[in-house]
Amino acid sequence: MPSQRVRPEILTFTPYVPGLTIEEIKERYGLSTVIKLASNENPLGASPVVQQVLARSLGQVFRYPQNHSPRLCQAIAKSMGVRAEQVVAGNGSDEIIDLLMRVVAKPGQDNVVCYEHSFSMYAMMARLCGVEYREVPRGGDFRLPLESLAEAVDHNTALVFVTSPDNPTGLAAKAEELMVLSGVLPEGALLVVDEAYMDFTWPPEEYSMMNTLSELGNVVVLRTFSKAYGLAGLRLGYGVMPEWLADHLRRARPPFTVNLLAEEAGIAALEDDSFYSATLEVVFAGRERLLKRLPELGCRVWPSQANFVMFSPPYPAGQVCEELLKRGVIVRHLKSFGLSDNIRVNVGTGPETEVFLKTLEEILHA
Ligand SMILES: Cc1ncc(COP(=O)(O)O)c(C=O)c1O
Repeated sequence: MPSQRVRPEILTFTPYVPGLTIEEIKERYGLSTVIKLASNENPLGASPVVQQVLARSLGQVFRYPQNHSPRLCQAIAKSMGVRAEQVVAGNGSDEIIDLLMRVVAKPGQDNVVCYEHSFSMYAMMARLCGVEYREVPRGGDFRLPLESLAEAVDHNTALVFVTSPDNPTGLAAKAEELMVLSGVLPEGALLVVDEAYMDFTWPPEEYSMMNTLSELGNVVVLRTFSKAYGLAGLRLGYGVMPEWLADHLRRARPPFTVNLLAEEAGIAALEDDSFYSATLEVVFAGRERLLKRLPELGCRVWPSQANFVMFSPPYPAGQVCEELLKRGVIVRHLKSFGLSDNIRVNVGTGPETEVFLKTLEEILHA
């Protein structure tokens, strides 16, 4: 097919490149065990309660799910203290980012604003939509430049994205500061706070916008089941937003993007308090351990409120990642975020985190 048929946004588009899978790494390096600490997944795997629910639901997969997943939206609303009409469930929160862009940002006219070195999906979706993507430089130490975001917006700004806690730095913005930002945005601009890692903050009420968004009118909060709930492979996330906006997202979306198993799993996961608490316990302990031990190994680390830590090793980060890979430990080199000197490692089980630290020590002290 001649490329003239293809939209210019697609011709110049850089696609998302996922990391190698465990199987691919095993084959490439002839390894029998591999530890993956590269995608911020749940160290405890999938909840046993959710697995039982999934097993019981398998026989129903010949049926279409209920469009817009109303039972799941009710369950999310109850758990988050919002109205079900405000909740839009999606095939991962990636789908909600895509929907928001397509519903509110006008191609060739509007812009979306975000800070540099952020989660790539915002830029990808903006470019696919033919919408200007404005990147705001960060302050020293990668601080989230909320004041600079406010300065970068104009009357054509449709969306302002803030990831809090931030991927890949782990830094979080206080809810109070985000309220100030929402208050100074021009009329019509929406503040989208991506809270994919909010479960891992402490205390969450100081950071999350979930409790205040109903009062504000121009704020959208994104959440995912891929991290603290251990359902990355099922693809389930959601947005909480003003009802008028939720209505338009529901009107614009293709039907049934949240599948029947994902809906059942999501409902069960929200009720499984013991798996959720166990996850937080492992993540908090592992994060402490990484934050303490990495500096002892000569690395610079950034404080983290997420289930991962960003650090800069004393040798070239790309080489360190490659050496870890050869020894069966997958971490994320942050070159694709424009941070070539840095690595992101997520908290694993206690033993996995120790294997990572020990392997890193061997490499750095070789
Ligand atoms: C900041 C951020 N937002 C959204 C997502 C996407 O989550 P989901 O798996 O729900 O699409 C991720 C996944 O890594 C993320 O890091």
